[in-house]
Amino acid sequence: MTASTQPPKTDQKASAKSTHPSGDKRFKVIDITMKRNQHRQDALIEVLHKAQEAFGYLEEDVLVYIARQLKLPLSRVYGVATFYHLFSLKPSGAHTCVVCLGTACYVKGAGEIMTALEAKTGITSGETTPDGQISIVTARCIGACGIAPAVVFDGTVAGQQTAESTLERVKGWKE
Ligand code: FES
Repeated sequence: MTASTQPPKTDQKASAKSTHPSGDKRFKVIDITMKRNQHRQDALIEVLHKAQEAFGYLEEDVLVYIARQLKLPLSRVYGVATFYHLFSLKPSGAHTCVVCLGTACYVKGAGEIMTALEAKTGITSGETTPDGQISIVTARCIGACGIAPAVVFDGTVAGQQTAESTLERVKGWKE
């Protein structure tokens, strides 16, 4: 058996693209927006907007990633994210449930999941239960359309969710 001695060719296209090491597909949405704007720093608001659509809110990890990719000081990115009311930083609940209400998820029942969740917790998107246990957030396409409807429980994406499976998961957070 002869092993090839040829070193692997460097794929220039692959090395030029920016992707988050976690492999989380939601970062792809941010990457595409930055690329479309040629990583221009003045596209920060648009990039933050897309990030919020993908994640439901802006958490530190996301802000750090954007700052790095756009070569901006983190303080500047934080400054913009906290200045504009349309952006929300990580919700305050001990647990966070992000329901994707993008088209693919919506047609597969994300609306029912949201309704059941609201009825169960007594809160709606952007709110935290009075005991501080659960925050609910909505997003518009988290990049997991193939497993729609998708819900993100404490940062972990779960596919093919139903109202029942979602409530079951959240029930555990209340105890
Ligand atoms: S619409 Fe929900 S993951 Fe794309």
